[in-house]
Parts: sequence; C-alpha cells; structure tokens
Amino acid sequence: MVTSTIALLAIGAGVAAAAARRAGTGIMPSADLSKRDIKAAPRDGPGYIIPNDNGGSCIGLFPNNTNGEPLNLIISGNSDAYIRSLEGFTAWSNAIGFGKECFGLHSGAAMQANLGDGKGWRSQQAEFRFLYELPPQVGACSESVIGGNHYRFWQQSTTSAWFLACSEEEDVFESHTIVPDGYDKGRDDIVSRALKNPTYRNKTYMTTVNYITGLLPVGDNGINHGITIDGRTAVLTIAVTSK
Ligand SMILES: *[C@@H]1O[C@H](CO)[C@@H](O)[C@H](O)[C@H]1NC(C)=O
Ligand SMILES: *[C@@H]1O[C@H](CO)[C@@H](O)[C@H](O)[C@H]1NC(C)=O
Repeated sequence: MVTSTIALLAIGAGVAAAAARRAGTGIMPSADLSKRDIKAAPRDGPGYIIPNDNGGSCIGLFPNNTNGEPLNLIISGNSDAYIRSLEGFTAWSNAIGFGKECFGLHSGAAMQANLGDGKGWRSQQAEFRFLYELPPQVGACSESVIGGNHYRFWQQSTTSAWFLACSEEEDVFESHTIVPDGYDKGRDDIVSRALKNPTYRNKTYMTTVNYITGLLPVGDNGINHGITIDGRTAVLTIAVTSK
C-alpha cells in the first residue's frame, strides 16, 4: 500500500516532467511559476487542459492511500478575469454560500492533485465549506452554521481553470464520512447553487454549465470509501457583472 502510493506519485511526477520537457518548458520551481501573470486559456478552447493528457490525473490522492477522490467540477478559464483570480473565486464561493473552514474544525490531511500543468503533485490550495448563514462570519462558526458539503481546490497554472474536488459528508464534526453518492451529490449541489446566479457584494455571478464525460471513471474503482461515481465532470463558465 505504502510502496504503491509512492510509486504512483513517482510515476505521476515522472510523466509530468516528461510532458513538460516535450512542451519545451521543463520543470521550474513553483516560485517562478507563481510570479507569472494569471493567464487566460486559449480563447477557442474549453478553458482548461485535461490533466490526464499531460501527465496529471483527474483523481486527487491522500497520502498512503491508492484510492482517491474525483476532481468533479471545473471552473473554466474562459470565465471572467475576476473569477480567475483567487479573490474573485473566493467571492464567488461566498456568493454560493461557501467559505473558509472555521477555527477548530479539523479537516485532516491535505489532498494532492496533479493538474498536468508542470507543477506536479501538490497540496490543495484550500478547502471551502458550506456555511448555512451568509455572510460567512469568522467567530460565528458552530455546528449549526457549517454544512457537510465542501470542496478542495487547485488552479491549473497554464489555463487559470479551477479544479474542485466536491463531496458531501455525513457528519462534519464527527466521522467525516462521505454519504453514499456523496461525490456526485456534492458536485450537483454546487452546480445548482451556481445556476441561481447569485448577487453578492454588488456583483452578479452568471453561470452556464456543461457536463462532460471521459475525464473520470464510472463506478467505484480507485475511488475512496468505495463510493460509486457517475463519471461526469461539471464545467462551469462564470460571467461577472458589477452593479
Ligand atoms: C505513510 O505511512 C508511513 C508508514 O506507515 C508513515 O511513516 C508515514 O508517516 C505516512 N505518511 C503520512 C503522510 O501519513
Ligand atoms: C455596494 O454598493 C453600494 C452603493 O453604491 C456601496 O455603498 C457599497 O459600499 C458597495 N459594497 C461593496 C461591497 O462594494
């Protein structure tokens, strides 16, 4: 188990490095990449690059576990420039009722993902949880205001697309057990909130969705907790208008 996880991570990194060499970019320290401007995806493309095509994976992994969790929602790099910034992505998350985890809520290990963007396997940038009460207020966090739905996220550095691993938990404060269908359910809940086109802090977020197949497996093979997934990925494109 341990050895195979390490082997899997090593293979993933090797393939990513090979892909980056083919692309003529080489692997650079992430400090160099982070200094670059936020890039838009090619205008005629879908606004993301399929991680698997480039040595990455659409499955996120935890340390010492060969099964993983689906990156089941993508926010296309064709979205508004504000959404492509961390500030805007966070504001949109707040607009649909999600925010930073509260003080005292233990979330466990960081998930690792490889988006095929030359950065290799790396930890989630953060995790946002559903907050029943808006606006999210630090200090008002208690069991009554925190929901089981949450997502971990990473930004693909080559396209600025956000990749989200969404899942719904049974009991956020005790077991952290994913509900049956918890990955699909978590994804669809976020999509339905996004499609309400919320207005928050004078900005309106208008979303279109496209469900695609072929990026994720169908069933429970390689999926954490033996939970079956339908193999669909929701791709959101978000436009923003200001009041
Ligand atoms: C993975 O398992 C090994 C062996 O049990 C352990 O030493 C190591 O700390 C574990 N790593 C993590 C990140 O849990
Ligand atoms: C929203 O617009 C109102 C009216 O122009 C303004 O007073 C307020 O500061 C704005 N709020 C934010 C968060 O920008």
